[in-house]
Amino acid sequence: MRKKIRVLDTTLRDGEQTPGVHIDIQEKCAIAVALEALGVATIEAGFPASSPGDSMAVRTIAQAVQGAEVAALSRCVDRDIDAAGEALQEAAHPVMHLVIGSSDIHMTHKLGVSRAKLLDIITRSVQRARRWSPEVQFSLEDATRSDPVFLRQCALTAVEAGATRINIADTVGCMTPDEFGPMIYDMVQFLGPDVIVSAHCHNDMGLATANALAAVKAGARQVECTVNGIGERAGNTALEEIAVILALKGVADSGIQLEQLRAISAQVAQVTGVPIQPNRAIVGGNAFTHSSGIHQDGILKAAENYQFVAPELIGRAGHDFVLTARSGRNAVVHMARQRGHVIGEEDRDRLYEAFVRFADTVPGAVDGEHLDALVQQVVDSEPVVRV
Ligand code: KIV
Ligand code: ZN
Repeated sequence: MRKKIRVLDTTLRDGEQTPGVHIDIQEKCAIAVALEALGVATIEAGFPASSPGDSMAVRTIAQAVQGAEVAALSRCVDRDIDAAGEALQEAAHPVMHLVIGSSDIHMTHKLGVSRAKLLDIITRSVQRARRWSPEVQFSLEDATRSDPVFLRQCALTAVEAGATRINIADTVGCMTPDEFGPMIYDMVQFLGPDVIVSAHCHNDMGLATANALAAVKAGARQVECTVNGIGERAGNTALEEIAVILALKGVADSGIQLEQLRAISAQVAQVTGVPIQPNRAIVGGNAFTHSSGIHQDGILKAAENYQFVAPELIGRAGHDFVLTARSGRNAVVHMARQRGHVIGEEDRDRLYEAFVRFADTVPGAVDGEHLDALVQQVVDSEPVVRV
């Protein structure tokens, strides 16, 4: 049996930190309900101490979501911890999520505390969080630039105070998979099987998903991600990417209902106003669209010729073609027939030649109406209205 991996989705917290994005409570709630149906183990609903609105959002989601865990973020500050605990009070499965920077950079330039003081803050904060919930996730911010020996000490201190999960955050996205995998492996071995080690990766060098995969292979039992990879700066590990990779490469069972990925991606893009780049893996508009004649012909003969990820897997009806001067005879005829034209075998070459002459003169793709006009010119057939 494949090992199980937990997915913590942070679209509503880290994802909402995307520059310029604000999601209102009703929309957050609708996304949370969709995430639960998608199969995520934990929905990070927000950061209650950050604003009354976010506190209310976490509270509302905690009421609405009864199957998945609901997590709330908190700094290691009493006021934050209590705000998170209060917002989670009605959650069926609450997770208190505490965070503090463990790198010398953060301790010196941001927190102004010594290592000894940081360990003391960790102990007191986790103990306080445990009064609100038996599940406490402790995140080591900037873990990947922390002294590895001190990082272990921070993690152990959190566990001894009652944390059940340790999250290793590559906050500035400075890792490569060959660095991050061993780091996670070390932490998993050090903490042992009773503690869930989680990986939280940022995409500053385009490696967030690759690093998350390396973490899972190294023994992490939870990955953190956002739908469409949205988030601070270059964003986070994309949920749709890591879920498809884990499934297709047989690495782990994430529990994600892959056929819902397309719909939730569209929902998040619409609600956040952050468009999906066309060539984005899995959910981009072009991810299953073929333009060259060689590829179109191959797909028409057998989809597997040019397919590793099947469109149906993620909830798309099938492959799409665009017609340009690079397209081939089979695709042009196929598209014309799809539009209801009757194209005989004797018409194929004439239609294709007229198409290519025309396609060479237009800047982008040849659209359906232009194709209709060409067919009528060359083959003299009206489109058949299909019911
Ligand atoms: O990137 C980060 O360090 C975070 C933490 C809150 C886990 O988002
Ligand atoms: Zn983050």
